[in-house]
Amino acid sequence: VTRKTLADIGQLYESSQPITMVTAHDFITSRMVDQAQVDINLIGDSLANTTLGLQDTNELEFEEFLYHVKSVQRGNQSSLLIADLPFGSYEQSPEQAIDSAVKLIKYAKIQGVKLEGGDEYTLPTIKRLVTIGIPVMGHVGLTPQKHNSLGGYRLQGNSVKSALQIYQECLDIEKAGAFAIVLECMPNKLAEYITNNISIPTIGIGAGPSTSGQVLVISDMLGMKDPSENHVAKFVKSYENFFTKGVEAISLYHKEVKQAQFPVAEEHGYKIKRDVFEEFK
Ligand code: KIV
Ligand code: NA
Repeated sequence: VTRKTLADIGQLYESSQPITMVTAHDFITSRMVDQAQVDINLIGDSLANTTLGLQDTNELEFEEFLYHVKSVQRGNQSSLLIADLPFGSYEQSPEQAIDSAVKLIKYAKIQGVKLEGGDEYTLPTIKRLVTIGIPVMGHVGLTPQKHNSLGGYRLQGNSVKSALQIYQECLDIEKAGAFAIVLECMPNKLAEYITNNISIPTIGIGAGPSTSGQVLVISDMLGMKDPSENHVAKFVKSYENFFTKGVEAISLYHKEVKQAQFPVAEEHGYKIKRDVFEEFK
């Protein structure tokens, strides 16, 4: 298998074919993304609040993130691999961002990074990364690392001022050299307008059907999170119910062991050889 490249993504965009991206966080989930032939496997910092059970993405340590990025790389041989730059690993300076991105590329062999924001500090960082040959994906709208200042996880671009700001950020991010931009949680029409007025792909989540591509987090789309503990955003489509199915399967196993019904079937055990049996009877 050959891994998809930036050129492949560019080709999809040029021919107006939708781009698919899925966030997978470890070996076992990235195998699924690989087999499903998804274009881009994002290793998102959503790792924090999904797979790791942390409060928010801001709690994620760079080293624990790196450990997961490596496992995704081992599991997925076909998708373009893009990793988030976690909170605290890139904001101080372009140098800090380069340092973090280089670590991810050297040790986890990913192809590019994603970082949140299109402000005056982030833009030079994007430019520097791109200049040294590191593909960058931007991310605007609902940027979870800023949830404290955004006042929670809520719809963005819902006022003229906010919508214009998001659009301007997209123009700036494109100019800084990013190859694509994630548009998260904004009115469909705004995402459509942005998509029609910039010349790099937009990847939407909670941004409607008119973006150049879509992204979902694997634990959301497969229903892997405990539904009693987790609120799932309105824009997520649940394609499966892994948590419920998993609990059912494990409960059945638990019951069968307690009732001595497993492992009694012949195929779940090994026959002893005659001479060994003679010794142990
Ligand atoms: O961390 C993540 O999974 C993301 C996507 C939702 C875009 O940033
Ligand atoms: Na993220």
